[in-house]
Amino acid sequence: MSNRFTTQWTLFVSLLTTSILYGQVIPIETQQNALVLQTDASKRVGISYFGPRLQQTAEYGSIIKESRQQDENAGIFNSAYTPSGSWSLCEPAIRITHADGNTSLELQYQSHQTQKQDDNVSLTTVILKDPAYAVEVTLYYKTYAKENVVEQWSTIRNQEKGTITLHKYASANLYFVGKQFHLTHYHGGWAHEMNPEETQLKAGILSLDSKLGTRANLFQPPTFMLSFDKPASEEEGKVLLGTLGWSGNFKIDFETDTYNNLRLIAGINPHASEYPLTAGQEFKTPSFIYTYSDHGKGEASRNLHRWARKYRILDGEGSRLTLLNNWEATYFDFNEQKLTGLFADGKKLGVDLFLLDDGWFANKYPRNGDNAGLGDWKENAKKLPHGIGYLVKEAQKAGVKFGIWVEPEMVNPKSELYEKHPEWVIKQPARPEHYFRNQLVLDLSNPKVQDFVFGILDDLFTKNPDLAFIKWDCNAVIYNAHSEYLKSAKQAESKLYVDYVLGLYKVLERVRAKYPKVPMMLCSGGGGRVDYEALKYFTEFWPSDNTDPLERIFMQWEYSYFYPTIAHCDHVTDWGKQPLKYRTDVAMMGKMGYDIVVSKLDEKDLQFSQQSVATYRSISDVVWHGDLYRMVNPRENDFASLMFVNGDKSRSVWFNYMVSSRFGAGSGRAVPLKGLDPKKKYALKEINLYPGTQSKITKEAVYTGDFLMTAGFNPAVNLNRTSVIIELTEVK
Ligand code: DGJ
Repeated sequence: MSNRFTTQWTLFVSLLTTSILYGQVIPIETQQNALVLQTDASKRVGISYFGPRLQQTAEYGSIIKESRQQDENAGIFNSAYTPSGSWSLCEPAIRITHADGNTSLELQYQSHQTQKQDDNVSLTTVILKDPAYAVEVTLYYKTYAKENVVEQWSTIRNQEKGTITLHKYASANLYFVGKQFHLTHYHGGWAHEMNPEETQLKAGILSLDSKLGTRANLFQPPTFMLSFDKPASEEEGKVLLGTLGWSGNFKIDFETDTYNNLRLIAGINPHASEYPLTAGQEFKTPSFIYTYSDHGKGEASRNLHRWARKYRILDGEGSRLTLLNNWEATYFDFNEQKLTGLFADGKKLGVDLFLLDDGWFANKYPRNGDNAGLGDWKENAKKLPHGIGYLVKEAQKAGVKFGIWVEPEMVNPKSELYEKHPEWVIKQPARPEHYFRNQLVLDLSNPKVQDFVFGILDDLFTKNPDLAFIKWDCNAVIYNAHSEYLKSAKQAESKLYVDYVLGLYKVLERVRAKYPKVPMMLCSGGGGRVDYEALKYFTEFWPSDNTDPLERIFMQWEYSYFYPTIAHCDHVTDWGKQPLKYRTDVAMMGKMGYDIVVSKLDEKDLQFSQQSVATYRSISDVVWHGDLYRMVNPRENDFASLMFVNGDKSRSVWFNYMVSSRFGAGSGRAVPLKGLDPKKKYALKEINLYPGTQSKITKEAVYTGDFLMTAGFNPAVNLNRTSVIIELTEVK
């Protein structure tokens, strides 16, 4: 009896204190969603709500009281930034050692404010302080209302008298309440990037992480989809799409607690990365970017695309250049004569630009293979006696622009640069060198190395102002992490992984300050590096060296959840066994380019390719700027089907690709379309037909959007028509 009384009394007191003391309610809202923070009696800031936005902001408080009751037990609190060494028994967002060696941290609410930056963008800042030590943390939540995207980061300020050390310093800490959580994450390697894995999160921690340093995405990217209650589909279910904007080591922890609720902590990987902050110094973490939808993955990905085009990717709402790249046509084996012939081929094909790939530089150790020359950025006099300037002019004469490949962060041990500056190279002084593609990484924490890397680009542009495109490659990971620079500057060597990335951004800032518009492709031996911080400086990225179109359908499908089409470079090459039309149709669903020997195309293939480039130009506005809808998932069907719809829903391009060659495989039935205006009438026309083939679609094919989205239309993709592109145009 007395026990029951005590329990009820405790509950009563607890409810009373809840309503009196849980004062600060901080709603962070987009048009459709809300994240609500609230302080408790100990001034801790917790997450009390995450989900669809409520109509009455005042009602957020009522949800909070419910959830608070259970969270107070067992050192589990739904913290908005979980500290370490005090009351929390969970995975921390932040762990530090104070100047006096103490390892505890408590963060109490100080103040918050929300500033509207314009009609769409707001920034909420929440300041937290340790009551016992002079350490301040500010949490930032930048909301993009229409796109339903939140960008979250934090700053940690050392106001102590001595140096503190950051051991873990996450960007974001979220807390979700749900019945179940299903995580889709990705893994892969060279030429097989972006393989999805869906798993139900069970008790314990699952972490996505990278320790590769430079090519951080090579085995696992920092992108994921998190479904609430049950796995989300394209159109249904609650799902969060998240990613970290950081071109280096990352760690994203998903910790399922004893209540089956989920704590997400995303940020720089703390692995071997203790970061000292001297008195007065501040550390800004990278951005964690996410969107949430309760209408499935399709809507969530369109949210992210709209945000990325408008706010993040360089020139994200602009246009792109189609190009012919020589990598697979020549590899390292070319000279001026061969190249000028290729310029003419590019013109014949109809593309905008010729891109000269690897192998154009170095003299003492010529770049005739991947084992020498990296670092020596002077034209190879044998291959290019008249230099890059001559090539730029010759390309222009032929009627195409000229772009060039660089890999400025790297060095081959067989190079003049290595001989001159071994202290610029990341390696352990007392250990054997360890190579990745016969090369090593330059130490970008060193300002002199930053100058050198910037100088490579600056020199190219200064000497060749008409240079129209850069492909920036990055083919090695960081082994033997050690910096001579940090050592000689008496700085902690554990800063290297972080300072490398910050050094890279400093260089890219300088490049963009001087050359704001030149399109640049982010490449990393395929898709080893892509994220939303790097894409501030790049117009596009190379998803994989694997351009086999069948593989690409799957890969591009997965990339498409996180990055809009305008940023995916998809090239027609000789990889795969499929006919040219299929290879071309697959490249057309991205930013199309070519890497083939044009002179080897027979007459019909050439005619087809010329027509494809022209067709692509006519549909590129819809593909680059339109909304993407996925109808038939290639992992579950004989074929893939997806479409792009432009802003006013007057035009659409619909792509269909066979992924099975089994007897009888094919569409065989109508595919309901998506994203059209039900009231509008659309004329359907098959495009990009191979010369001499007839379309199955009659000229009279005109239907309402309602019909097409309800009854659907059969694209008749089958073993005889392995890829089909249909253009839909509004008929008034
Ligand atoms: C790796 C890239 O992914 C390729 O496209 C090509 O540029 C080579 N590097 C050149 O070495």
